[in-house]
Amino acid sequence: MKYSRIIGTGRCLPDKVVTNADLEKIVDTTDEWIRSRTGIERRHMAAEGETTCDLAEGAVREAMAAAEIGPDDVDMIVIGSTTPDQVFPNMGCLLQARLGIHGPAAFSLEAACSGFIFALSVADKYVRCGDVKTAVVVGAETLTRIVDWNDRGTCVLFGDGAGAVVIRADDEPGILSTHIHADGAYKDLLYFPSGVSKGFDQLKAGADAVQMRGNEVFKVAVNTLGQIVDETLEANSLGKEDIDWLIPHQANIRMIQATAKKLGMPMERVVLTVQDHGNTSAASVPMALDVAVRDGRIQRGDRLLLEAFGGGFTWGSALVRY
Ligand code: ACO
Repeated sequence: MKYSRIIGTGRCLPDKVVTNADLEKIVDTTDEWIRSRTGIERRHMAAEGETTCDLAEGAVREAMAAAEIGPDDVDMIVIGSTTPDQVFPNMGCLLQARLGIHGPAAFSLEAACSGFIFALSVADKYVRCGDVKTAVVVGAETLTRIVDWNDRGTCVLFGDGAGAVVIRADDEPGILSTHIHADGAYKDLLYFPSGVSKGFDQLKAGADAVQMRGNEVFKVAVNTLGQIVDETLEANSLGKEDIDWLIPHQANIRMIQATAKKLGMPMERVVLTVQDHGNTSAASVPMALDVAVRDGRIQRGDRLLLEAFGGGFTWGSALVRY
């Protein structure tokens, strides 16, 4: 049986940091409210002219260096993002052009905050079936570009960044399983209202920004993430005690605590970046993974549970033997 193994990780954050105190000057909020409701203390924000692809490129270059591979070794690029640089070419192609990769399939997919888990699931399937040997998988976003900076209910939550992994075929696991889901019945709880086909007219009216019924999203997310933890463990005939590290989507510390509680995991075994990055959507899981790999917490052989939940709704998980 063939598996894919993570052989390199990387991340890239914009230089500019926006603290909660900075936001107090923009909207009617307080550092105390943001910290206590979300766990966020600061977030990075792309500079004018800095794009999602710039961040993705930085993360991929780091991951490829860690994996000790060059452009000719890459057989596929899959990038999860809701905030692409342009409508087309897709961001995979834009990345190829920057990295000097010619020929292999490169594409982006859009699953909001679950984008990286979806991308990882797709790439893993190609590796497992033998069509691809080495794949680059990315989650990259500039969500600060699509929030309403007058709406305190959303603008305090999001940040920009990119994370990437390189996976390669191996006889040993590796990625043990991935699980991805969606339910469009929830399309009106978290969305961005306009687009190419519908038109961008609302932009002029100032309503063209992320819309979220936060409280309702929160409840469904906690419930759904609890279920996906069970699904993932059952699929691998494992118990809660078999997981070494939880690497959750970094949307809200209270949501993460609820999932950790469900797993019976102490918070010391949960990788947390929400305080420094805010919610970076598809970038949050691969960036958290990279943080804990590089600071030495995650060791080869550890069992990792990656999970995410986002607009759509979409949700997913990956069980990984690192
Ligand atoms: N500062 C101060 N007060 C605020 C702020 C703010 N930044 N934002 C909202 N409030 C106020 C509200 O107006 C409300 O006031 P009221 O009681 O006078 O009406 C009060 O705080 C409570 O608001 P709630 O929305 O009920 O607060 P809640 O505890 O639910 O926290 C939050 C809001 C943080 C958004 C939470 O609901 C949440 O994290 N939801 C999930 C977000 C998420 O995970 N999204 C999924 C991923 S994102 C993606 O896919 C792109």
